[in-house]
Amino acid sequence: MSELHVMDHPLVRHKLSIMRDKETGSKDFRELLEEVSMLMGYEVTRNLPTKKVTVQTPITTGEFDMLAEENITIVPILRAGLGMTTGLQKLVPFAKVGHIGLFRDPETLEPIEYYCKMPDDVAASTVIIVDPMLATGGSSSAAIGFLKKRGCNNIRLMCLIAAPEGVAVVQNDHPDVDIYVAQLDESLNEHAYIVPGLGDAGDRIFGTK
Ligand code: PRP
Ligand code: URA
Repeated sequence: MSELHVMDHPLVRHKLSIMRDKETGSKDFRELLEEVSMLMGYEVTRNLPTKKVTVQTPITTGEFDMLAEENITIVPILRAGLGMTTGLQKLVPFAKVGHIGLFRDPETLEPIEYYCKMPDDVAASTVIIVDPMLATGGSSSAAIGFLKKRGCNNIRLMCLIAAPEGVAVVQNDHPDVDIYVAQLDESLNEHAYIVPGLGDAGDRIFGTK
């Protein structure tokens, strides 16, 4: 069964509260999103396997831990997922980045795919899908389904804020995918926006409204 990991950290809660404030402008919003993504990356990567390597320190030789493999792909769901990518890249600088473009049809709320570019070996990598908002779950579930069709079988989903409805959809559609969120909000409104939420994440990152 898919596990839901909710970050329980005062710094994350503090930064997210500033992001929720409608008076917070795009520059601060982007910087805070990058910082929170970095902090979340610490949890998302917690169970990556390690191996022992021999290291010669200035004093002696020892056996120390390093990641068993460096095949990690960050997959932002465009556009808003881009805002979480740089923070994770700073933490995992060797990660590749694959992009998937989806938008919600405002009438049907169904996700529409408009772009996709993945690394050639994405099927063999640990995939971290990033998107600030998990609302109805349609976009994330579709992105996961798409990556599974490309052969990926080691996928985790990292979102800033989730609604319970979206978590339920992803867990039902993809019980093998763990979900990491900074906070779990109350519900969705009639336009499928997260309540209390932070509004439209893409618009707040890119200043389009
Ligand atoms: C937002 C958000 C998610 C999606 C979440 O993107 O970034 O991708 O909505 O909603 P869902 O869980 O109901 O699918 P949006 O479609 O607004 O596109 P944008 O990133 O280009 O702004
Ligand atoms: N997409 C957003 O950007 N915000 C929401 O609250 C829901 C979907």
